[in-house]
Amino acid sequence: MGERPILITGAGQRLGAATANRLMDEGCYVFVHVRSSIDQAEALLAAAAERNGRKCGEVVVADLTDDKDVASLLSSVASHGLVAANGLHGLVHNASFYSQSSFEKTGLDMYRSQVRLHMEAPYALTQGLLPALEQAGGSVVAIVDTSWGRAWEGLAHYTSSKAGLRQLMLNLAGELTGRVRVNCLAPGAIMAADWEAEHFASVLEKVPLGRSGRAEDIASGVWFLLNHPTLSAHVLHIDGGWSIHEE
Ligand SMILES: NC(=O)c1ccc[n+]([C@@H]2O[C@H](COP(=O)([O-])OP(=O)(O)OC[C@H]3O[C@@H](n4cnc5c(N)ncnc54)[C@H](OP(=O)(O)O)[C@@H]3O)[C@@H](O)[C@H]2O)c1
Repeated sequence: MGERPILITGAGQRLGAATANRLMDEGCYVFVHVRSSIDQAEALLAAAAERNGRKCGEVVVADLTDDKDVASLLSSVASHGLVAANGLHGLVHNASFYSQSSFEKTGLDMYRSQVRLHMEAPYALTQGLLPALEQAGGSVVAIVDTSWGRAWEGLAHYTSSKAGLRQLMLNLAGELTGRVRVNCLAPGAIMAADWEAEHFASVLEKVPLGRSGRAEDIASGVWFLLNHPTLSAHVLHIDGGWSIHEE
């Protein structure tokens, strides 16, 4: 078993899965959190075990918009033998829900669920796992995005809750200085959601480098932030230069 346990949320597929793979291949023991992608996560762990010749982690299941699920995720990670013995090396807030819907049509229920997923769950998980993170000299990374300070059509619910996550992390980076490092990673247009393929292509045309990056680039950014000994309160943009481009 690896001796550096890490929890990553929403890691059954896409960018989270690429990051979980990188962490497992670096020798960490990864709690691969999912809500519904259980089979994908099991397959990810089986392939990592085969590649690395060891058990590389386990699946943990929770709906992060449900307080009871968040509490039970917290207690199962905190009380795990490896975490009790070594502390927690890293906590990666990656889970997200991204769908376009106009402001007029987006009700409070939808908005609250975004706030729960992007802000409240990261708040509760960071708070509950703080002792374990301190024990290991660990760090926190939140995946935000490049929407900060911009207006994205039909995405006010998403961009504002992600902005809240970014501010939460930066405030904690200050408040927890000397105890736990906290950073953010802001991906550009890396992997399109099903509904945005057309829009995605037009975004890529505006990216100065012509590409924002691959899932593996996000994974290596997370690995860098988790392990850099002096980096804190940093927002690492992996976006091909998109963040300084005028829309
Ligand atoms: N894709 C991009 O190009 C891009 C660009 C900018 C920022 N980002 C950010 O990068 C991160 C990864 O992006 P992605 O596109 O790979 O993410 P994604 O596919 O939109 O979501 C990742 C996972 O979040 C989980 N999730 C959704 N609702 C949940 C809930 N209520 N409780 C628990 N888990 C829930 C889902 O897990 P299950 O599958 O298990 O249900 C999903 O697989 C996200 O934070 C995203 O905002 C991505």
